[in-house]
Amino acid sequence: MKYRIGLLIACLVLSVGLGLTLSKSGSGDSAKAANGDKKILIGLSMDDIRNPRWHKDRDTLIARAAELGAEVSVQVANSNDTKQIQDIQSLITQEVDVMVIIPHDGAAMAKGVELAHEAGIPTVSYDRLITGTDKLDLYVTFDNVKVGELQATYLVNALKDVPNPKIVRLLGSKSDNNAFLFKEGQDNILMPLVEAGKLEIIHEDWCDSWQGSIAKQVVNAAITKHGKNFHGILSSADVLSSGASKALEEEGLSGKIVLTGQDADLVACQRIVQGTQDQTVYKPIPKLAEMAAEMAYNLATGKPVIVPSGIENGAGTVPMKMAEIVSVTKDNMMETIIADGFHSKEDVYSTSGN
Ligand code: GAL
Repeated sequence: MKYRIGLLIACLVLSVGLGLTLSKSGSGDSAKAANGDKKILIGLSMDDIRNPRWHKDRDTLIARAAELGAEVSVQVANSNDTKQIQDIQSLITQEVDVMVIIPHDGAAMAKGVELAHEAGIPTVSYDRLITGTDKLDLYVTFDNVKVGELQATYLVNALKDVPNPKIVRLLGSKSDNNAFLFKEGQDNILMPLVEAGKLEIIHEDWCDSWQGSIAKQVVNAAITKHGKNFHGILSSADVLSSGASKALEEEGLSGKIVLTGQDADLVACQRIVQGTQDQTVYKPIPKLAEMAAEMAYNLATGKPVIVPSGIENGAGTVPMKMAEIVSVTKDNMMETIIADGFHSKEDVYSTSGN
């Protein structure tokens, strides 16, 4: 109860544009941490780790937590909502002090947040927003609308010399709120052109659970229906660009169609320097994961958590903090991805992408 009141006051502070301070309910765990008689245990419930970016998220969060003297218990749901709820129940049984959740389905995981809340465990929605619950304590992410804007801006500029360009769009997983935010950002740039008859989206589709194999099918379907007469693929993430890239290769179109992406996956960076993908959005994942570890630790130990803004999740305003993002092409690969040590120069420039 004390916690809910804290959150309500916090939202009030938020609404007048000031920082926001959250703290965990009760003082038992905080006292425990302060006395040093038990390590803080952070629960990390992950959707899926097939996309390589999530390995960086997990490993950095664990490493930063260790620096803070905390441990992390990780569960991976393999894109299965029933399993993800069971994972959260298991973390509750393990008596984690705080729970970080990367939902497969942002709406379905409201139940997980509520179960944790009933057990007095604060929750952090990581990268993807959990919707439809007012029990969520914190959301850490990137500016996902801006991601979509950067992707579409790149594509439009790259096709500026093509009269009335035609594009195919690969949207993300409908179960992931981010997929809609990326689309919103893309639409901000594309729709004025579409309405003016200056650009045509000849085919688009959603890719369930962000599967590259589905992205490949969407591109195959576009080619079956419309032939090879299109100029760009607006791909919402590199994991989809990988599927698109395979479809283009099979059709002899590698390097001939402008292809975007997101996540700066190693294979995508390799494709960019080789010319079979043109752009990605680099999200410095270690910064997000470190921020999440620090905020989760502070929530668990009753220390203040200050965030600058909030986001509406269908049940209320969730306190939110965002990390910076950058559009990357072969021209700024060195000063972004390589300079940050996100990938090594050898890895990006030496092997063949796919
Ligand atoms: C999104 C995330 C992207 C991408 C995608 C597929 O939620 O924002 O960065 O990783 O999932 O895993």
